[in-house]
Amino acid sequence: RPGAERFLPAGRDLPALRAAAAGCRGCELYRDATQVVFSSGRAGTPLMLVGEQPGDREDIEGEPFVGPAGRILDQALGDAGIQRTDVYLTNAVKHFRFHRQGKRRIHEKPAVGNIVACHPWLEAEFGVVRPRVVVCLGATAGRSVLGRAVRIGEERGKLQEADGRSVLVTTHPSALLRLRDDPGWDAAYDAFVADLETAARAAA
Ligand code: URA
Ligand code: SF4
Repeated sequence: RPGAERFLPAGRDLPALRAAAAGCRGCELYRDATQVVFSSGRAGTPLMLVGEQPGDREDIEGEPFVGPAGRILDQALGDAGIQRTDVYLTNAVKHFRFHRQGKRRIHEKPAVGNIVACHPWLEAEFGVVRPRVVVCLGATAGRSVLGRAVRIGEERGKLQEADGRSVLVTTHPSALLRLRDDPGWDAAYDAFVADLETAARAAA
């Protein structure tokens, strides 16, 4: 049977989940990635942020959001008055999906099959971390958390109830990064910070 379900450990705490995820073969992505990137943060953290998947830097370092997207996220968290150490940070898909172009590794969006296969890890994290508010950074996270297709433009920034959880969908920091030299940058960045503030207030 495909999917991560059969790799879940009996003991449900973060160290056990992290250790078990290192051996996951729930989809094909474990084969070409360097390592699993599980999460950062502690059980019982009220605010959980869910990204898409690890990128090139994260794949190498084994930590979420340590590359360019992570720098934007850190800046926005700071401007929203949130400490990175006060959030639980994870991804919808826990191995890096990419293709090679010469020596470069080019990010590829996870397929719905990868998102579905990896979902048991996220569900297990919900069970252990028990966040009050879950922020979906982008459509992939939204797809995994809400279990349906999500259009960021249509539902961003509003708290919604799903499976007994408070969920807020917002833009992915990488999407923001692409607007860096665009006239729309200031507004897009401010909207992102405002969404993080909304989530933090609801989680407090
Ligand atoms: N982008 C993500 O979605 N997650 C990471 O961990 C890094 C970049
Ligand atoms: Fe397992 Fe998720 Fe990695 Fe696929 S991406 S192998 S389901 S941890």
